[in-house]
Amino acid sequence: MRIRQVGDPVLRERAREVVVDELPELQGLIDDMIATMREAGGAGLAANQVGDLHRILVAEVDHNPRYPYKPPIPLTVIVNPVIEPIDDELVEINEGCLSVPNLRGSVMRHVNVRARYLDRDGVAHDEIRRGLTAGTFQHECDHLDGVLFLDRVVDPTTFTTWDQFERFHRAAFVERITAFVERVGS
Ligand code: NI
Repeated sequence: MRIRQVGDPVLRERAREVVVDELPELQGLIDDMIATMREAGGAGLAANQVGDLHRILVAEVDHNPRYPYKPPIPLTVIVNPVIEPIDDELVEINEGCLSVPNLRGSVMRHVNVRARYLDRDGVAHDEIRRGLTAGTFQHECDHLDGVLFLDRVVDPTTFTTWDQFERFHRAAFVERITAFVERVGS
């Protein structure tokens, strides 16, 4: 599927809740989203990013070269997510997005969240997610509300291209975030 890029209005729309009865007809979309995420090397993908407006996202991290410091996330399909912080702890994470080519920037994310959602079979899940995995969930859920990481960058001087991130910022970020991951887990 074609990944929509910043400027496409569909990225600024709020996706709508899925009715459980709709899930059988959405299985093909979910499979296509998984394939698209994997082909693009993303850690996650929301339906808006492929031009669909159901509240569906997929996430998977397995030694991702775009984000080698991220702890693994087994393939997860998330329908109708509700993400709530469970405390006030925040962490600054340098993020990128498949819909925002060649740009990264630093955003504040909640470290510990409660995630409630349905999986692709309509089974309800209620989990605590932490650290960078919590950050990935927040980034993807933002997409379903028409929000991009760009909107959450507090300090615009943190914007970098991917090349310049590698060159000037990666080492310090990876050192800090690796210690963070070891402390909080996922
Ligand atoms: Ni994104």
